[in-house]
Amino acid sequence: MKLMSILNLFSKKRCAMPVLETERLILRRFKKEDLDDFYEYSRNPNVGPNAGWKPHASRQESKEILKYFIENPSIWAIVDKDTQKVIGSIGLHDDRKRDYENAKMLGYVLAEPYWGRGLMTEAAKKMIEYAFEELKIDLLSVYHYPHNKRSQRVIEKCGFHYEGLLRRASTIYNGKVYDDMCYSLTREEYYREIKKDNNYY
Ligand SMILES: CC(C)(COP(=O)(O)OP(=O)(O)OC[C@H]1O[C@@H](n2cnc3c(N)ncnc32)[C@H](O)[C@@H]1OP(=O)(O)O)[C@@H](O)C(=O)NCCC(=O)NCCS
Repeated sequence: MKLMSILNLFSKKRCAMPVLETERLILRRFKKEDLDDFYEYSRNPNVGPNAGWKPHASRQESKEILKYFIENPSIWAIVDKDTQKVIGSIGLHDDRKRDYENAKMLGYVLAEPYWGRGLMTEAAKKMIEYAFEELKIDLLSVYHYPHNKRSQRVIEKCGFHYEGLLRRASTIYNGKVYDDMCYSLTREEYYREIKKDNNYY
């Protein structure tokens, strides 16, 4: 077998990403065919800026970012089970604020027409379960800008603990600087508070 094939096999194995399912959603790896759905929500100025990124200016820009998502084993597409449409993304990223390898950071966005139905809370709870039970991480963090009350509610409903406000922590694409409201959940808290809560899922 040629060296490149061996390396490809190795990297595919390393990048294994399970498909996760909730009552209304499928969380799966992005694919090329998702481009139209991805561009549709990523061009919306109400979506990206709340997560710190610039709304996509063209289909081509979305195509390039989609390529990165497809290759990146930490970002899941959020798919509406009824329509099979991709309506957002959710990821477990390295947390640049913490120098600890067994910590991850949760990040997410949802297409605006789907807001307010509890969908991101549903997706986030599944990701929390996966992070602690399958990846066996020690700590999951999540951050939002102070004005983003919707995200704050998602974080509260998921049971994260508020750590505090980090002042002037994020400069976003347009030069605006925001404070970060910081939250986390430890492994112990997950098993003690969340797994035992029958109403959580
Ligand atoms: C933040 C976001 C993911 C929320 O997704 P969602 O599926 O609408 O979230 P949910 O429906 O699970 O919960 C939203 C909560 O916010 C509440 N809410 C909505 N508008 C609100 C407002 N203006 N002020 C306070 N709370 C508000 C809803 O009532 C709901 O809480 P409830 O269940 O207690 O009633 C979505 O709005 C989004 O993608 N926004 C743009 C990108 C973004 O902000 N990403 C997160 C970066 S940290």
